[in-house]
Parts: sequence; structure tokens; C-alpha cells
Amino acid sequence: MKILTTVASVRAQPRAQKRVLVPTMGALHKGHLELIQVARDHAAHGGEVAVSIFVNPLQFEPGSDFERYPRPESVDEELCRSAGVDFVFRPAAGGMYPEPLSVVVEETSLSQTLCGRSRPGHFRGVCTVVAKLFHIFAPDTAIFGEKDFQQLAIIRRMVRDLNFKVDIVGVPTVREEDGLALSSRNQYLSAEERKQASVLHAALLHAAGLARSGEASSARILSAVRTMIEQAPLARIDYVDLVDAENLQPSEVANRNSLLALAVFFGKTRLIDNIRLS
Ligand code: PAJ
Repeated sequence: MKILTTVASVRAQPRAQKRVLVPTMGALHKGHLELIQVARDHAAHGGEVAVSIFVNPLQFEPGSDFERYPRPESVDEELCRSAGVDFVFRPAAGGMYPEPLSVVVEETSLSQTLCGRSRPGHFRGVCTVVAKLFHIFAPDTAIFGEKDFQQLAIIRRMVRDLNFKVDIVGVPTVREEDGLALSSRNQYLSAEERKQASVLHAALLHAAGLARSGEASSARILSAVRTMIEQAPLARIDYVDLVDAENLQPSEVANRNSLLALAVFFGKTRLIDNIRLS
């Protein structure tokens, strides 16, 4: 496995028949490893898997956890090696952005709701770095997780609107045994917060059950989810919303196209999760 730290060194790499990219911010967990496994399947028969590890300053709002975001470099490298990754791109902190940076990529519709509303500028940072990674690697395929459903939808839109020549593959959310979605941020949680955080998936499953048994009122489903989460004393809801999974706009009626998405703080740690109600 090669470890590359500059854009020039990635460009100098000979290309395999097919190149599959998994963009990450590191602190790799089983969710990321599942993405890498899917990447390997897509790269079977002469393809190659690249993983980028870059804690992207542009997608962290002021006052968020950019500084304390975990950066376990050698553990990540070892995980990539044993997962069969062909090369890791780990640019230096200053290596991705020239100063001053005056060109960014902004999606202007899907980014207006959910996390886009609570984290202004976040998806501009995501789109800008992912567009750069697509230019640097020119991957045939790139793999993203459905845990970040809005991110995945926005990247698909960016690829469509800006004619990137890359297939985007989405991977279902990987969870702990109690249902908590794996996230690099879970390690911030205290033991008690971690225990209570299992309420998120339980509440999403409850919502899906209500929808399945014929409840079509988005207000009633949302209220049931909020009530359940509020029973965890350490939980503080950022948002719980029911939206159309295509355009991410709030919908009053739950149907097979609905997505229930939430962001909830436990202490300073903000966790997100979602479920399709179909
Ligand atoms: P990061 O949070 O490191 O996630 C990297 C990829 O792993 C994303 O596509 C994310 O959706 C996926 N992922 C995270 N947890 C997952 C889980 N439990 N199950 C399945 N997939 C999971 O998302 C980012 O980094 C950044 O925004 C990035 C796209 C790299 C741009 O900086």
C-alpha cells in the first residue's frame, strides 16, 4: 500500500483499469471499512482502491470540533493496509487549499434544509473538497455512506449538475449492536451519553413502524420521535424532520418517498441519523 501526501504524487500514479475512491476524514471505523469493502468489490478484476484521509477545515463551522477531531494516523494506515487499500492520500493540513482560496462549489437547493440549516457553510466545504478530490483522482467510482444521506444527495446533484464523470455508490449505514450508527464522533461520548444515544435508532425504528402501520401524518410521527428522544435526559434535539428523499423538502404527509432525519446533541457531541420510511 502506498501513502501519498501531495497532489502531484497522486497525479503521477499510473492508473489501473478502474479507480475507486473512498473519501474520508480518517478516525476509521467499521462504517468506513464497509465502504472500502464495497470499493474493493467495484474494483475487482484489475481495479484499484484509493482512500483519502483529510480533516477538511472548510466544512467545519467556526467553534465546532475541527481542532479536537481525532487523527489517529498510524492506526488508520494499518486499517487501510489490512482492508486491501491500494493507496492512501493523506495531504498535509495546508496542502489542499491555496491562500487565499476564492473559488468554492456550492449546491443551492438540497443544502437548505436539515444539516444545511444548522451548519451554514458546511456543505459548501464538503462540495468544494469532494470536487477537488474528484479532480485530483479522476475516479471512475466513488463510495459514500447513507448515514450522511443529505451529503450523498448533494454530491449526486453536484456530479449531475457539473458533469463529473464518476459513478456515485451509496452504502447502507453500519451500526453498533444497539443500533447506534458508527461515527468517528462517537468516541467523544461519555459512557452515560453513549448508553442513551441508542435512543436515536430506536426512535427511527419506531417512526418506521408507525408509517408501516398506516400513520401518514408527519406531525404525529415527528412528535412521537421527539417524545421518545426527550426521554433520554442527556439528549438535546437539534432537528427531527420528515422530508421528501428526492428534494429534501419538508413534507406534511409520510409516504414511501419519505426520509426521517435527525441531529441530536449529547453534551457537545452532535450525532446524526436517518431512516427511509418506505
Ligand atoms: P467521514 O465522516 O469520515 O465519512 C466518510 C464516509 O464514510 C462518508 O461517505 C460517510 O457517509 C461514511 N460513513 C460514516 N459513518 C458511516 C456508517 N456508520 N455507515 C456507513 N457509512 C458511514 O463524510 C465525510 O467524512 C466528509 O464529509 C467527506 C465526504 C470525506 C468530505 O470531507
